[in-house]
Amino acid sequence: MHTIALVTQKGGSGKSTLAIGLAIAAMQDGHVVRLLETDPLGTVSNWSHRRTQAEPAVEAAVSGDDIEQKLQAFERDGVTLAIIDTAGGDRVTMQAAISAADLCLIPARPSPADIEAAGPTLRIIRDNDKPFAFVLNQTPARGNRIAEAATSLSDAATELNVMGVLALPYIALRNDQQDALGAGLSVTEYARSGKSADEINNLWQWVWRKMSPVAFEQPAVAYEPAELRVAS
Ligand SMILES: Nc1ncnc2c1ncn2[C@@H]1O[C@H](COP(=O)(O)OP(=O)(O)O)[C@@H](O)[C@H]1O
Ligand SMILES: [Mg+2]
Repeated sequence: MHTIALVTQKGGSGKSTLAIGLAIAAMQDGHVVRLLETDPLGTVSNWSHRRTQAEPAVEAAVSGDDIEQKLQAFERDGVTLAIIDTAGGDRVTMQAAISAADLCLIPARPSPADIEAAGPTLRIIRDNDKPFAFVLNQTPARGNRIAEAATSLSDAATELNVMGVLALPYIALRNDQQDALGAGLSVTEYARSGKSADEINNLWQWVWRKMSPVAFEQPAVAYEPAELRVAS
């Protein structure tokens, strides 16, 4: 079983949205997926209550021990991919989620301030020696093609790309991301041939490649948030 944790202390960056998007994209790709919610706000559970389909099952975990036990139960049940959604403020649970994960994804809006706000999270990730990547979320929808985005986004994002810790593609700010969640769906169910669905499917493919055994043989990229150049 592979385990992904969506982590960053910054609220509103897209942890829950991307956890759901990736879960459904992976399911549609043939994985047996379960979502583990560690945020008392219950964004993912609430979404799942709006769903008519039973899959993916969502379970809540309230502590580090609970995370560990639930993941063991997932594995016994034949789950191939567990996705942990975390709360911004709860450092202890976030630490447990990071330590349980094979890959940590850090959603951030494309500004140096938002990327740098991930500093404390990154330190925990590095202390645990975990592979990680930033996912730029809520990027401007216009001019979002990768080639254009490389020049239109901040220096910080470009630098992350150069360092190999930027997941691709960027996920644009679009209404269908919000409408899908409101309907108990993900974008790849809500607007299957839409641009958001395309981005999430491609992000899932990027994440899956990153989690493949060959990728895991590579050492984690050394990275300190202080190294970021901040656009003036
Ligand atoms: N790519 C996106 N396009 C449009 N709205 C988005 C996108 N990503 C997230 N949102 C919206 O932003 C808000 C915060 O996202 P959420 O996933 O709840 O963040 P977090 O879990 O990190 O607090 C939600 O209202 C969500 O619908
Ligand atoms: Mg959330």
